[in-house]
Amino acid sequence: MSKKVFIKTYGCQMNVYDSKRMADVLKPHGYEQSESAEDADLVILNTCHIREKAAEKVYSEIGRLRTEKDAKAAEGKNMFIAVAGCVAQAEGPEMMKRAPAIDMVLGPQTYHRLPDMLKAAEEQRTGGRMSARVLDTEFPVDTKFDHLPTDESGFEGTAAFLTIQEGCDKFCTFCVVPYTRGAEYSRPVSDIVEEAKRLVARGVMEITLLGQNVNAYHGTAADGSTATLGGLIAELDKIDGLTRIRYTTSHPRDMDQELIDAHRDIASCMPYLHLPVQSGSDRILDAMNRKHTREEYFAVIDRLRAARPDLALSSDFIVGFPGETDEDFEDTLDLVRRVKYAQAYSFKYSPRPGTPASVSKEQVPEDVKSERLARLQALINEHQIEFNEGFIGKEMDVLLERFGKRDGQMIGRSPYLQSVYVDVRNDHNALDAAGDKTYTDYMGKLVRVRILEAGPNSLKGELVRALH
Ligand code: SAH
Ligand code: SF4
Ligand code: F3S
Repeated sequence: MSKKVFIKTYGCQMNVYDSKRMADVLKPHGYEQSESAEDADLVILNTCHIREKAAEKVYSEIGRLRTEKDAKAAEGKNMFIAVAGCVAQAEGPEMMKRAPAIDMVLGPQTYHRLPDMLKAAEEQRTGGRMSARVLDTEFPVDTKFDHLPTDESGFEGTAAFLTIQEGCDKFCTFCVVPYTRGAEYSRPVSDIVEEAKRLVARGVMEITLLGQNVNAYHGTAADGSTATLGGLIAELDKIDGLTRIRYTTSHPRDMDQELIDAHRDIASCMPYLHLPVQSGSDRILDAMNRKHTREEYFAVIDRLRAARPDLALSSDFIVGFPGETDEDFEDTLDLVRRVKYAQAYSFKYSPRPGTPASVSKEQVPEDVKSERLARLQALINEHQIEFNEGFIGKEMDVLLERFGKRDGQMIGRSPYLQSVYVDVRNDHNALDAAGDKTYTDYMGKLVRVRILEAGPNSLKGELVRALH
C-alpha cells in the first residue's frame, strides 16, 4: 500500500538537496511525497540550527504536528514524526525529552539509514505507544553519498542543486556548522559527473554545486589525483546540455587561482559569486577566526574582477558580534561601499550553544544590533537597486523556470541570479513556426530578454528571442 511522506525543509540549500535524497531513499519503500502534513503517514522536519529563531520555529511546528498526530491516533491511524538536519544533530536527546511527540531523530549524515530507522520506529509503536524513540546522530564512516539513491524519474526542473562537499573544518567562533555537519568531506569527481549527467538527461540546464565550503573542494579525480573546484567545473563543462554552473558557499581563503581562472575561461561558469565576508573590521574578523583580513578580501575580489569584469558579488554579514564597536561597524559599512554587492544577507549575531563566541562577556545589546542591522540593510538595498537598474534597456539571457501569475508571464534567472519576469506573449521568433505553440514550450528554455523595469528584488522584461 502506498504511504505518504511530507518533508518540510528549513535552512540552507544543502538541506533542500538532502530532503530530495530522503524522498528518493523512501520511494522504494512505498512512500510518495505529499504536499501537506495532514494526509501524511510520515512527517520529516529537516531543520536548521544556524540562528536561534530557526530552532524555535521547529519546536512550534512540532507542537502543531502533535495535534495532528493525536487526531489521527483517535481514528486509529499512525503518524510518525521525524526530526532531521542540524537541530537534530545538535540537540537530539534534548529534543526527545522536550517533545514527546517525536518518533525519530536523525542527523545529517545518517539519511541512508532512514528506512531501517523507520522500521524500528514502526516496531516500537506496534504495542500502541504514542511515539517511538529512535535516535541516530552518528557520523558514520561510510558516507551517505555512497548509499543514497538519486531519483531517476520525474521532472527535476530547469535548475538543480548537487552537493559536492559537506562539513567544515574552519571553526568560525560564531558557527555551529562544524559541529552539526562534521568534518570536511569531498565526493569523488566521477560520482559528481555521473549525477550531473543524470540531471541533464532529465532536462536540467543549470546546476548549483553545493558545499558549506564548496571552494575547499578536493575530491579524488579519475586518475587518482586530487581535483580542486576549478578542475571539477572544467569536467562538468564538458557535459552537453549543461549551460550554467554555479557554486555556493565559498570561503575567501579558498579562492585559488584555478577557480578564478575558471571564471575567465569557462563560459558555463556563471558570473555571480557568493563570497561571505561577515565583517569589514580586521579586529572582528580575527575574533571570528575567519583567517583573513579585509585587505586580503579586497585583493581576492580584485583578482576575480580582473578575470571576469562583469562578476557580481554577494555576501553574508553578521552585525553585533561580541565586542563589535561603532567603529568596527563603520568598517563593515565602508567595506560594503567599496565592494558594492549585487545582493547580500545580513543577520544579527545569535549566540549558539557550544560555540566559543557565545560565552564572550562582550555581548552587544539587542537594540544596538537592531539599529546596525537596519543601517546595513538600507545600504545593501541601495546598491542592489542600483545594480538592478543598471540593466534597464539592456538585453540578457534568462533561463525560464516557472509561470508567473499574469497571462503570458514567466519567471527565470539572469546570469547574475536576479529573478526576471518575462512577458513571452511578444514572441517575434516563434519556437514553433507551425503556430500551435503554448507558453509551456518556453519552460526550461534559455531566452534573450530586453529589460524594461527594475525593482530591488527582480527585473521585468520582454522576450527578444528564444535561444535554446
Ligand atoms: N559556510 C558559509 C556560511 C554558512 S552559515 C561561510 O563560511 O560563510 C550561513 C550564514 O549564516 C553565515 O555566512 C553567517 O553570516 C550566518 N551565521 C552563522 N552563524 C551565525 C550566528 N551565530 N549568528 C548570526 N548569523 C550566523
Ligand atoms: Fe561556519 Fe565558518 Fe565553516 Fe562557514 S566557514 S560553515 S561560517 S565555521
Ligand atoms: Fe542551517 Fe545546518 Fe544549513 S545549521 S544553514 S541547515 S548546514
